[in-house]
Parts: sequence; C-alpha cells; structure tokens
Amino acid sequence: MSLTNKVVIVTGASSGIGAATAVLFAKEGADVAIVARNQSKLEAVAKQIQEYGKTPLIIKADLSKEDEVSSVVSQTVNHFGQLNILINNAGIAVEGSILNGKVLQAYDEVMKTNVRAVLQLAMLAAPHLIKTKGNVVNVSSAAAFTTCRTPTLISYYVSKAALDHFTRCAALELASSGVRVNSVNPGPVDNAFLDHSGFGAVDKYKQGLIDGTALGYMATDEEIAGVILFLASDKAKSVTGSNYLIDNGYLLK
Ligand SMILES: NC(=O)c1ccc[n+]([C@@H]2O[C@H](COP(=O)([O-])OP(=O)(O)OC[C@H]3O[C@@H](n4cnc5c(N)ncnc54)[C@H](OP(=O)(O)O)[C@@H]3O)[C@@H](O)[C@H]2O)c1
Repeated sequence: MSLTNKVVIVTGASSGIGAATAVLFAKEGADVAIVARNQSKLEAVAKQIQEYGKTPLIIKADLSKEDEVSSVVSQTVNHFGQLNILINNAGIAVEGSILNGKVLQAYDEVMKTNVRAVLQLAMLAAPHLIKTKGNVVNVSSAAAFTTCRTPTLISYYVSKAALDHFTRCAALELASSGVRVNSVNPGPVDNAFLDHSGFGAVDKYKQGLIDGTALGYMATDEEIAGVILFLASDKAKSVTGSNYLIDNGYLLK
C-alpha cells in the first residue's frame, strides 16, 4: 500500500492511535504533518518517523480553538506543496451527566475538539483534496453505535455519533468532486486514552474492557492505524461514507 508522494495531516499525532498512524504512513512513503498540543511528545513521534527517512512537519495547535485550527492546512500545503489525506484523529472524553449537572460543560468542551475542529479542517482541506482526488478518515468510536454504557460520558457518545453522521454527509457532498470520506470506529484500544481523559491508567479498567469484547482482546494502536491506512489508500477507492468498526466484537455482547 505505497503512499509515496502523498501528503497527510494526522491530528492527535502526539500519542496513541495518531502517533502509530503517522509512523505507519511515513513508513509507507508519505510526508506527514503531525498536529497536537504537546510539543515534546510531537518531537518524540517525529524522531520515530525520521527512522523511515521522512521529516515530518510539526504543527503545535490546540484544535479546540478556531484560530489555531485555521492555519493547519495552509501550513501543510505551504510546506509540502499539496494535501492528499486528512486524518481527523484528535479526541477527548470529559465527564458530565444530566443528573450531576455537568452535561453542558462537558458537551461544549468535547464537541469543540471531537466535532467542530473536524468540520473546520474538512472545510479548509476540501479545495486541496479536490485537486488531488484525496480523502478524509475520521477516527470515531464504537461508542457511536451503542447506547451510552457510561452515563457520565454522554457527551463523548454524542460527539462520536455526530462525527459518524458528519462522515456520511461530507462523503455525499464531496463525492461528485472525487473526494472520499470515511470513519474508523474502534472499540477498546490498549493505550493511554482513559488516562489522558482523567480516568486513571487503563490497567484499572483493562480486564472489564477485555471481558466486554467477544474475542477477549483489546486492539493495539498499530491495528487501528492499519485500518486507517487501508481506508486512505487506493485499495479502498470504492469505499465512501462508511463507518468501519474494529472492536473485537465489543458490540456483539
Ligand atoms: N483508546 C480507545 O480505547 C479509543 C476507542 C475508540 C476511539 N478512540 C478515539 O481515538 C482517537 C485517538 O485517541 P487515542 O486512543 O489515541 O488516545 P490519546 O493517546 O489520548 O490520543 C488523543 C490525541 O488527541 C490529541 N488532542 C486532544 N485534544 C486536543 C486538542 N484540543 N488539540 C489538539 N490535539 C488534541 C492528543 O494530543 P495532545 O494532548 O498533545 O494535544 C493526543 O495526541 C480519539 O478520537 C478517541 O476518541 C479511542
């Protein structure tokens, strides 16, 4: 699945799925722009990418802020000359339920990063993706398909359901311009997402998450990156508007 001469933006590339995706795309020959807030973590990922002979463009940006999102695409195109693939992976979960009175606060915070930034980046990227007949992959979640299993994470579930519907709507709007839009929807992934969202180390929840899957296994970041790579590649040229579940059978139980 060679991506030689392709230019890719990966948001949330400072850790987890985004970091694994940026490294995998570089390994396949792509030039990558890596976006997140944490400069030192981005630099560590850049070092891994350099092992494959590629020098990534580091873009330090807080995607919850419209003015910081606004230059991500232009910086990438100015640096690499074009844009072929946009991977909207950055995401957060914030606790707040109807009954604890914090649902609006959590909703506003989560939607800014998980949905609004995605819409803004898609709008800014579209003219460039039309030129290259490129595509967008959004990193959603199995949470988009289920009822809210954790009531305090209601905003996260809502954000991922919104992201999936955006994926379908954007796919339809951009199809006649030759641009595909898809999402990858992981179930539990063995990484630090829960820790980063303030829930503590995944080890605390790990057995419950594993037991929640039919296959008795949590996916790795690299496995999710592999599905993102497939959807972004020409092998998936007939796939658009799809929400690709990779959850070890989490939704079967
Ligand atoms: N882990 C799971 O079990 C799982 C399951 C299903 C879906 N997902 C989805 O997978 C995606 C990636 O998460 P992950 O599992 O790899 O966890 P992660 O390691 O916490 O990655 C989240 C990434 O998003 C970035 N980010 C968060 N807020 C940001 C902001 N305001 N501006 C810019 N970047 C921001 C973080 O970087 P900085 O902190 O450096 O900004 C980090 O690179 C998320 O959309 C998540 O919802 C995860």
